[in-house]
Amino acid sequence: MMGTPVRLQKYLAQCGVASRRKAEELIASGRVSVDGAIVTDMGVKIDPSHQRVAFDGTLLKQRQHKKYYLLNKPKGYVTTVSDPQGRPIVTGLITDSSVRLFPVGRLDIDTHGALILTNDGELAQKIQHPSHEVKKTYEALVEGRPDNRKLRDLANGIDLEGRRTSPAQLVVVEARPHTTLIRVIIHEGRKRQVRKMFEAIGHRVIDLKRTSYGGLQLGKLPKGGYRRLTPEDLKIIFKKIPLQTKK
Ligand code: URA
Repeated sequence: MMGTPVRLQKYLAQCGVASRRKAEELIASGRVSVDGAIVTDMGVKIDPSHQRVAFDGTLLKQRQHKKYYLLNKPKGYVTTVSDPQGRPIVTGLITDSSVRLFPVGRLDIDTHGALILTNDGELAQKIQHPSHEVKKTYEALVEGRPDNRKLRDLANGIDLEGRRTSPAQLVVVEARPHTTLIRVIIHEGRKRQVRKMFEAIGHRVIDLKRTSYGGLQLGKLPKGGYRRLTPEDLKIIFKKIPLQTKK
């Protein structure tokens, strides 16, 4: 597939070599090559996805701006970048991004709440690594009223599919006539973990909402609404996960 052609001087600027005007001088002075051939003409357009541009013999790489969003994922959306069954995908909700975003981790189709989307692969990989123990907070509405012993079992860790869950924090937020709203904080991210934890103690989850991820609160974002992460948000995230580069 062909990419979008871009003027050579613009491409040099995008790669951080120089400003566009300065890049024109560099081209004119014969220091820039495309696919191994020196180019001194100003009008040349290149396709960065196929052509190799070098400055003083060094191949250039396009810098991609990192973007970070927090989405209030609605139910009914899948957290994959495409879906063979044609179900709606979360990335389709972010309408103002010029870059290809992907969700960080997963939320079940029937779970709603906080989901980070980014084009920063390094952050996405590290934030999900168990060693960083990034906290996720959920509000689970469960059937019935789990007694304290069962809640303590979940807090201490239970056997789930042959592997013990890590310690969790559980707080009863509200006891309703036939259901209980429980706040659950975990730092693992196993598939359908919260639902399975409650199933294991005999209390099915009726509704599951993630209210925070890695210290970022969902706050008042409406369902399907999203916001760009602020520099403050990024500080919170990056403090927990030291990366090589932030930009
Ligand atoms: N646990 C679940 O059961 N489902 C989710 O989507 C996230 C955590």
